[in-house]
Amino acid sequence: MSTPTPTILSGIKPSGQPTLGNYLGAYLPFSRFLAKRTHNVFMMVADHHAITVRQDPKELTENTYAIAAWYIASGLNPDDCTLFVQSHVPEHAQLGWILTTFTQMGELARMTQYKDKSKGENEAVGAGLFMYPSLMAADILLYDTTEVPVGDDQTQHVELCRDIATRMNNLYGPDTFVLPKAVKPVAAQRVRDLQNPLKKMSKSEAGEGGCIMLEDETSAITKKIKRAVTDTLAEVAYDPANQPGLANLIEILAACSHRTPKEVVKEFKGSQYGPLKGAVAEAVVQTLEPVQAEYAKLMADKAELQNILAKGAKKAREKAAQTLGRVMTKVGYVLPR
Ligand code: TYM
Repeated sequence: MSTPTPTILSGIKPSGQPTLGNYLGAYLPFSRFLAKRTHNVFMMVADHHAITVRQDPKELTENTYAIAAWYIASGLNPDDCTLFVQSHVPEHAQLGWILTTFTQMGELARMTQYKDKSKGENEAVGAGLFMYPSLMAADILLYDTTEVPVGDDQTQHVELCRDIATRMNNLYGPDTFVLPKAVKPVAAQRVRDLQNPLKKMSKSEAGEGGCIMLEDETSAITKKIKRAVTDTLAEVAYDPANQPGLANLIEILAACSHRTPKEVVKEFKGSQYGPLKGAVAEAVVQTLEPVQAEYAKLMADKAELQNILAKGAKKAREKAAQTLGRVMTKVGYVLPR
């Protein structure tokens, strides 16, 4: 295959309201990526992925709009990228099926996220949760994606995507799929739960006070950060293994203030944890305030959001249909005339 156009694709599930983890690990790096104008950018609301865990229909609808609105509010101008809802582009489900037939049960069973989410209840777990990575591979491969910006928790899925693509390239020729690679945000690859820093901050496991939702008001954000679990070492240092709670706060501040954890530590060397927490709260509030205001405006006009998403789906389908046709021909399907 000729040198592929630099292309990024990523997605966020509408399985709840997004968190600060999604913002720092996804929305913010995505918008910085777009600003560089070096790549074709495809951004998706991953609704097919959300239903791998049972969703309330009304909430799923609202959350689908919300995830799209947060993308735009975070700086992803839909005129400069392709922003769409996964289910509006039927090629995802179609290629997802084909890739499922090239994916091994053992590979899927080894996925950490599947193991975590199924919590050992093997018999009762939905088959969709198990097959989810082959659908995610289709999301990526449909756009001849070269880079997939994701947080730590998704890199294993991108690795599996590469394995499936390599397997099919070996069978059908190297021009079947472009091989993508995962790329990580600089500062906040894994924002941790403020109450249990050994867990990632997650909308599906939002515990009491450990998770900052993007919709949270200033008072709630400040309260949660001030109550964040730290340690008794009483020394500001960046040591994720021994001081995970503190390292999390340092990473959050670094990401919100465009600095490295090292630079943050330098500023707070010798200080108590209190002032550091105060600075983290202020930085998060300042970062989120303008985004929240833009989000509220967008959510007040669903017809306009629908227009934006319809345009995005049309653009996405042009590329997705081409790739699907190429793959179906390679596999030997008879294409409809
Ligand atoms: P999802 O919806 O769980 O998360 C969306 C993005 O946010 C990142 N993220 C975090 N980053 C840092 N700290 C955290 N605490 C944190 N929590 C979440 C995730 O790494 C992700 O980048 N399967 C995907 C959605 C998806 C996708 C795709 C992504 C579907 N198809 C194709 C990339 C390419 C998911 O469940 O993300």
